Amino acid sequence: MASSVSGAASRLLAATARAKSSSSSAFYLISHRSSSSLAPPPPLKSLRSSPFLSHLFRNQKVERRSSIQVSSNGGFSTVAFASDPDQLQGAKKDIKDLLKTRFCHPILVRLGWHDAGTYDKNIEEWPKRGGANGSLRFDIELEHAANAGLVNAVKLLQAIKDKYSGVTYADLFQLASATAVEEAGGPKIPMKYGRVDVSGPEQCPEEGKLPAAGPPSPAEHLQEEIVALSGAHTLGRSRPDRSGWGKPETKYTKDGPGAPGGQSWTVQWLKFDNSYFKDIKEKRDADLLVLPTDAVLFEDPSFKVFAEKYAEDQEAFFKDYAEAHAKLSNLGAKFDPPERELSEAMKQKIRAELGVIGGSPNKPLPSNYFLNIMIVIAVLALLTSLVSGPIIDGNQSKS
Ligand code: HEM
Repeated sequence: MASSVSGAASRLLAATARAKSSSSSAFYLISHRSSSSLAPPPPLKSLRSSPFLSHLFRNQKVERRSSIQVSSNGGFSTVAFASDPDQLQGAKKDIKDLLKTRFCHPILVRLGWHDAGTYDKNIEEWPKRGGANGSLRFDIELEHAANAGLVNAVKLLQAIKDKYSGVTYADLFQLASATAVEEAGGPKIPMKYGRVDVSGPEQCPEEGKLPAAGPPSPAEHLQEEIVALSGAHTLGRSRPDRSGWGKPETKYTKDGPGAPGGQSWTVQWLKFDNSYFKDIKEKRDADLLVLPTDAVLFEDPSFKVFAEKYAEDQEAFFKDYAEAHAKLSNLGAKFDPPERELSEAMKQKIRAELGVIGGSPNKPLPSNYFLNIMIVIAVLALLTSLVSGPIIDGNQSKS
């Protein structure tokens, strides 16, 4: 598997394997809300198991060529399954319009993360395993303490869902999140679509599946890939009346845009860049937020190496973020048609056959591959006709 992921991801994969034993460690979740930033962070309660982190680079499913992929020009290709590609295209356009008027990029990113992040690697059965399945549309899950405020994001998207009934909630939440990152100036995320929705509230995950921000050991549940994903906090704010963290308002948030208030991690909290890493490293501005789980990225040596890199190199951050976000968006999802895992032997065979021309089991061939072959054939035919001309003439002159 390591050979099928990029250099940065390979390093994360190795580190994830090393950290495997921590995957069942306790997590902590904010269980109450406070109304003032001056009050201490709310009490924390223990969670049962790792929701997602150790799975980002393990048990990777092979990208199906039959699934709906976003092409390089941003269009949706191939046949519609769980979601209709034309409708996905329309929904994406409407999401862009929504972002322009409501400046809701951060909450849409958080919505996608909280739908997918309930994934429990210890449960195989769908939808019991949680993950990106649209369950977050139901009140019972929206009422979980960790999801405070996300009902506003679902409401914003409901009009789009009503217009494009051929798009599942699970796809819509992930489409909205990826589009928000891109529209805020972030990287293009290699998304795929076709996620199936859970059908009723009884299929929602139990409360307490998401990691929380507080002590005592925030590093326990952070694997390296979360360093890149934490960079999403370059967007948005924390609000004491929702999560219990952050100030009610700061000089950067008191005037909005969007609903004013809260405490942001960065100055320009609607712009997706690497300023999160720079700002939490420096911790110079009391108006900028640093959660315990943010601070640990520069305290724990195994995370610090990545956090330092991302603070220095935005391109590296964008590359790793896009990859990690795409994987996050697929956690626990059931795709229609079902994903198939290729055997290792089959992957080796495909690698051997396609390696020379840039294909791999996890990487579809570049779309211009067949065009290139046609050009080569045409050039060969032309050369053959040029070369064969004088020979015929020569033969003719001999006879
Ligand atoms: C260790 C894991 C994480 C913890 C502990 C954490 C914690 C938090 C907290 C406490 C808030 C404030 C919520 C509020 O008061 O409204 C927040 C906001 C946010 N989180 Fe995270 N987060 C984590 C991971 C992530 C990931 C993986 C993403 C996306 C890939 C993400 C994206 C966001 C965004 C965009 C916001 C701003 C929401 C808004 O402005 O409405 N977070 N997070």
